[in-house]
Amino acid sequence: MNEVNLKWDQLGFEFQPTRANLRFAYRDGAWQPGQLFTTYDVTLSVASNCLHYGQAIFEGLKAFRCRDGKIRIFRPEANGERINSSARHLLMPEFPVADFVEAVKTVVRENQDYVPPYGTGGSLYIRPVMFGTTPQIGIASSKEYQLVFLVVPVGAYYKGGIKPVDAMISDYDRAAPRGTGHIKAAGNYAASLYPSKVAKEHHCQVALFLDPGSRRFIDEFGTSNFLAISKDGKRYLTPESTSVLPSITNLSLMQLAKDLGLEVERRPLRVEELADFGEVAACGTAVVLTPVHRIFYGDKVFTYSEEIGPVLRKLHDRMLGVQFGELSDEHHWLTEI
Ligand code: PLP
Ligand code: COI
Repeated sequence: MNEVNLKWDQLGFEFQPTRANLRFAYRDGAWQPGQLFTTYDVTLSVASNCLHYGQAIFEGLKAFRCRDGKIRIFRPEANGERINSSARHLLMPEFPVADFVEAVKTVVRENQDYVPPYGTGGSLYIRPVMFGTTPQIGIASSKEYQLVFLVVPVGAYYKGGIKPVDAMISDYDRAAPRGTGHIKAAGNYAASLYPSKVAKEHHCQVALFLDPGSRRFIDEFGTSNFLAISKDGKRYLTPESTSVLPSITNLSLMQLAKDLGLEVERRPLRVEELADFGEVAACGTAVVLTPVHRIFYGDKVFTYSEEIGPVLRKLHDRMLGVQFGELSDEHHWLTEI
């Protein structure tokens, strides 16, 4: 039963406050016990590391109200492991994966009225964010941190849901060849804002980035990983690159593709190969699996179906079927709260 009165079927991807967020502070070399807060404000020195030197990382995962009425979270351990990989790279403290999963369960339980009802297509997006709070003026890693788990009820990231979007290959890079593209650093998203604005000015909802080293291969979208289906519908292709985020959705879709009998190829994908693909999509927690209609590259345009293609449709339906508890969770991806 949802006591919260929201227009569930009109949810987009907008921040709105919920009942509680869960916060952990790191000081004196240790994480302190979590505390629930009902406000969204933090008190921070203007000299805090995260404001000047960018020690800020985050995660994104979802909880679903399933067909049987129970609430389940999709692969929280994987996000727990990834936040630690981000933390290691930016010299931030790791948070034990078991505690991460427990924190996610707690914050979802505290906000369970905000999990959209089954049948609306919505879910509860969980956003863990960690930032360095030590006031300092010399460049060094912070000594104190906060890790906050907040939640937001969400619907489709791109208006239109699975209606294919247009993408534009960016003239800019979001990451460096040996930089931070493989972790979920807040700064990567700041770097993608201007290229995304340029893409929108060209009527493309999303920017597609090339590998920043040679700019000959496809990397990923600003919001999500890139995947393609071969014209014969038998192969699932996705870039192998050191500057893309290892997407948990992509990893799961690769497994579902194998289950459906597709061959999975994870290798560098040359830009010219865009002409060989039958179906193309963006995938990630927020965008789920969003098909791509056209990709603009200078004066070239690669065109795919105006509606979701048959293989992407199968993958999409399998994924959501598992997440909403309509199909069996064969790979043990769901955690009940
Ligand atoms: N790539 C980027 C740049 C992202 O921001 C995201 C979203 O988290 C993804 C890929 C997809 O990752 P995941 O499927 O783990 O959400
Ligand atoms: C997610 O999918 O969880 C992300 O962090 C991507 C962002 C565009 C919301």
